[in-house]
Order: sequence, then C-alpha cells, then structure tokens
Amino acid sequence: MRPLEFKDGVLKLIDQTKLPHQKVYVECTTYIEVAEAIKNMIVRGAPAIGVTAAYGIVIGALSINASSKDEFIHRLEEICNIMRNTRPTAVNLFWAVDRVYKTALSNMDKPLDEVKKFLLNEALMMDSEDVQANKAIGKNGLSLIKDNFTILTHCNAGALATCDYGTALGVIRAAHEGGKKINVYADETRPYLQGARLTAWELSQEGIPLTLICDNMAGHFMKSGIIDCVIVGADRIALNGDTANKIGTYSVAVLAHENNIPFYVAAPVSTIDFSIESGNSIPIEERSSKEVTEIMGIQIAPANIKVANPSFDVTPNKYISAIITEKGIIYPPFIDNLNALKEQNR
Ligand code: MRU
Repeated sequence: MRPLEFKDGVLKLIDQTKLPHQKVYVECTTYIEVAEAIKNMIVRGAPAIGVTAAYGIVIGALSINASSKDEFIHRLEEICNIMRNTRPTAVNLFWAVDRVYKTALSNMDKPLDEVKKFLLNEALMMDSEDVQANKAIGKNGLSLIKDNFTILTHCNAGALATCDYGTALGVIRAAHEGGKKINVYADETRPYLQGARLTAWELSQEGIPLTLICDNMAGHFMKSGIIDCVIVGADRIALNGDTANKIGTYSVAVLAHENNIPFYVAAPVSTIDFSIESGNSIPIEERSSKEVTEIMGIQIAPANIKVANPSFDVTPNKYISAIITEKGIIYPPFIDNLNALKEQNR
C-alpha cells in the first residue's frame, strides 16, 4: 500500500485525514500544494514526508522558467525553504530536501532541462530506496520477534508513513508474512489518532490480528504480562540514541522499562541525525490546540481553555533496547555504535 505516487508531474497522495472512513486521493500539481499537504498531515510519517518533499521540489523545479542558472538555483532554494518550513521534527524531511538540492548543485554544469531530470531521478531513487530499506528493516527485525508474541506499537509507522511496507509495522509485516503467529496492540495515539485511524486500518487490511487500546491502557497490559515487546518508529534519532517519536512514546518506553519489556525503535538510517549529540537538540513541533479540544471536528473541551499540544516527545536512550535499521540491529552503547555507523555512512 503506497500513500504517494508521482506520475506525469502530479503527486497523488492518499488523504490520511480522511482514513479510515474514506480512501480518497489528493492530487498536487504545484509545490505549494505539496507543502500544504505535508503541513496539514494529508501525508505524514517521517520517511513519507521526506520523499513527498522531494517530489514537491521536483514539481517546483519543473515550473521554473529561469533565464539564468543563478536564477534557477535561487528559485530552487526558495522552494526548498518552503518544504523545510512545513514540519520541524522529522529529520527525513531535511535530509530529503538537502539531497535534492545537492543534486541540483552538483549538476549545474548541464543544461537546466537536464538538471530537472536529475532531480526527478533522485526523488524516484529515494522513493524506491525507502521501500527497500523498510523491507530490510522488517527482515532484520525478525530475529527479535518470537512465535506467539504480542507486540505493542504507538502511532502509525506503517506503509502509510513511508513509501510502502513501513518501519515498525514493517517488522510486524515481515513476522506475519514469515508465518509467525503475532498479535498487535495498537495505542489509539491521541490527539491525532494515528493508531486508531491508520494502524488499525492498515493492519486489518492485511488480516494481522490487532487489539486497539486507548493510550492510558498500555501500562495495564504490560503489567498483566500480555505484551512481549514494543516496536515504534522514529522521527529523529540523535547520535546517542535518544529518539523523537510521536507524543506518548516516552511514556510507553518508561512503562516498558518498568515491566522489563524490550522496547525497540525501527527506522531507516535517514532518520538518524548524525549532526546532533543528544535528543536535547531535537525541535518539537507544537500543533493546533484544536487537535486536543476537538475529536474529528467535534468540540469535546470547554471553549477558550489553555491547551498544550507537543506533537512529539524524546525517549532517552537508556529506555531503548535496540534500534532496527536497514543496515542491521544497533544495540547499546548507542554512542559507540551510532558513531561507527556515521563513519560507514560518510
Ligand atoms: O505526526 P506524524 O503522524 O507525522 O508522526 C508520525 C510518527 O511519529 C511516526 O512514528 C514516525 O514518523 C515514524 S514513521 C515510519
């Protein structure tokens, strides 16, 4: 299941704000529409917004009618900045924008029409690399999942959050495809309900056994001995392993630690921010108060009350048992092992 498809200069996105009641598509024909789709969470999930931004830049680049190369690169930079300003936490977005921009810079000796083709190829490559990475994450994570495991997940780190297959749900998919009997407990994930709306829908499409729970039930099921491990995705991983993911992930990690349950993060290397030492440097997005005071457009709180709505939190590395990537499973000490990965990645 792919949440995005680029064809003939048009980016088609599944409108994730409408799932699970309606599966409808939004067609973006301008880079502004793409940026709005990311901001408004028509498309969401770290790897998916990265590749979406890359296609957005391609759409923008195709529309540039510049009289000089300087003008082209200046206009491209403006488009890149608009993409960078959509959502602040997931590093995949910045990684993808930089990668497309660098592709332009390193091909500026060629005619502009050819530069545009290079940009498109880069975006297509990132798209297919993401799918391959997720399948590798799934395969690598298999050794951690035993038959009859019950796995708790938070938010949606599935096909919908990537270009296909998913990261945390990629491991779950791989286990299911490999014939392991598994059960999934999905946190509903207030305020935006990615668990109830998206993970529940995605897993039920594939017949993967699922129990939906409210966020505040996770501790109860861990203490009752029902949960064998937790797997979540990530929006940004610092060099010491501290991990930003959907708000509520930190509480789940602390509960898992208290109950001696392994807590795994599944993410591609593009989610690792090798430039920051710890999670203290990760910017946390604050979203509209309406996400808290309303549920699906229905007001549930008194009017005019003070609201806080951080969209992500940071789980300290000490609560993370391992990080499952396409390059293999990374165990503590994360400082050493992520630094080694950084060297390999240079
Ligand atoms: O606000 P969202 O829905 O974009 O947040 C998504 C998450 O937090 C995911 O867990 C994360 O991006 C990993 S997706 C493979």
